[in-house]
Amino acid sequence: MPCTVVVCGFFGDTGKGKVISYLSLQDKIAIAARAGVGPNAGHTVIYKDKKYKLRMLPSAFVYDKCRLLIGPGVLVNPKILLQETQLTKSKERVGVDRQCALIEPKHIEADRKGRLAEKIKTTGTGTGPCNADRALRTARLARDIPDLERFLTDVPLEVNKAIDEGKNVLIEGTQGTYLSLFHGTYPYCTSKDVTASAACSDVGVGPTRVDEVILVLKAYTTRVGAGPLPNELSWDEAEKRGWAEIATVTGRRRRAAPFNYELATRAVKLNGATQAAVTKLDILFPECKGVKSYEELSEEAKSFIHEIEEKIKVSVTLIGTGPGTSETVDIRDVKS
Ligand code: IMP
Ligand code: MG
Repeated sequence: MPCTVVVCGFFGDTGKGKVISYLSLQDKIAIAARAGVGPNAGHTVIYKDKKYKLRMLPSAFVYDKCRLLIGPGVLVNPKILLQETQLTKSKERVGVDRQCALIEPKHIEADRKGRLAEKIKTTGTGTGPCNADRALRTARLARDIPDLERFLTDVPLEVNKAIDEGKNVLIEGTQGTYLSLFHGTYPYCTSKDVTASAACSDVGVGPTRVDEVILVLKAYTTRVGAGPLPNELSWDEAEKRGWAEIATVTGRRRRAAPFNYELATRAVKLNGATQAAVTKLDILFPECKGVKSYEELSEEAKSFIHEIEEKIKVSVTLIGTGPGTSETVDIRDVKS
C-alpha cells in the first residue's frame, strides 16, 4: 500500500483515528500526512490503555517511526499543535508545511457568534473565518511566526519523495464527505472540500500517485451541528440502541440515524474508494466485541457486512470491533 488515502463516507466521527492508528502499526507507515480543514476535527485513538484526542497531529503517531506531517492545505492552531506534540512526545518527528495558514484569536471569536454559531452550529474553532481570510489572501502562514520554526518543512516534497522510494505513505482526511463545502449539505457543512481529492491536494499529492482510497463508514450514522440527517432518531432511542455519542471537540450530543446505504454508495463515487472500513460493528452486534478474525464474527454481523458490500460495490476490508487500536478485523489480504 505505498500511498493510501483515508476519508470518511458520512458526516465525520466514523473512527478514522482508530483505523489510521491500526494501519500505521500494521503497515509500518513511513509518513502520515494530515489533510482536511484544521483543528475542528477530533480523532480519538486508544492505544496501550491510553486515550488520545487529537485535533492537529496525524493519528499515526502511535507508530513511533512514523514521520508526522501537516499539509499546506490544513489550518494550524499553533497552541493546539504544540500541546499535541507534548502529549504524544513526538516533537522530533513532526513537520508543518511552511504554507499552512494560521488560526488566530480573531478567527475563533468570529466563529463563536452570529450566523456561523447560531445557524450552522460550527465547532467554533475558527476554521471557517480563517479559510475566508486565506481566500482573501490576508491569512498569516506558518512561515511568518517563530513558534513553529523548528517544525517547518516542505510537505509535498517529503511525501512525493517517500512515494518515489516505495515507502508506505498515508494521507489522513478529516471531517466527512457530507460536510464537504462542495458535496455536502450546504450551507450546513464545513469550509472546504473534504473528499479524497481535496485530501490529496491538501498535502500536495497528485491523483496519479494514489494506490488505495479507504472509505471509513460507521455501523450507524451520526452528525453534530445543524443540517439534514435522514431517518434521525430521538436521543432517547439513540441511547436505547447504544448509539448516543458525545462529540470530541465540542462536547455536544451527536445526532444518530441507522446506516445510510444511499449516502455510503454515493460517497464511494465521490471519493473513488477502492475499499471500505466499517467501524463500531460491536455496537450493533455486541457478541463481536474485540473479535479479530472474520470467521469469529456472528452470522448476523457477517450478513450486515455482506449487505453493505452488495450495495456500495466495494469490499469491506477492515472492521472495527471495539475502540482500541488492536480491536480490528483485517481482511485486506483475503480480498485483494
Ligand atoms: P466547522 O467545520 O467548525 O465550520 O463546522 C461546520 C459543520 O461541520 C458543523 O456542523 C460541525 O459540527 C461539523 N464538523 C466540522 N468538523 C467536524 C468533525 O471533525 N466531525 C464532525 N463534525 C464536524
Ligand atoms: Mg471526530
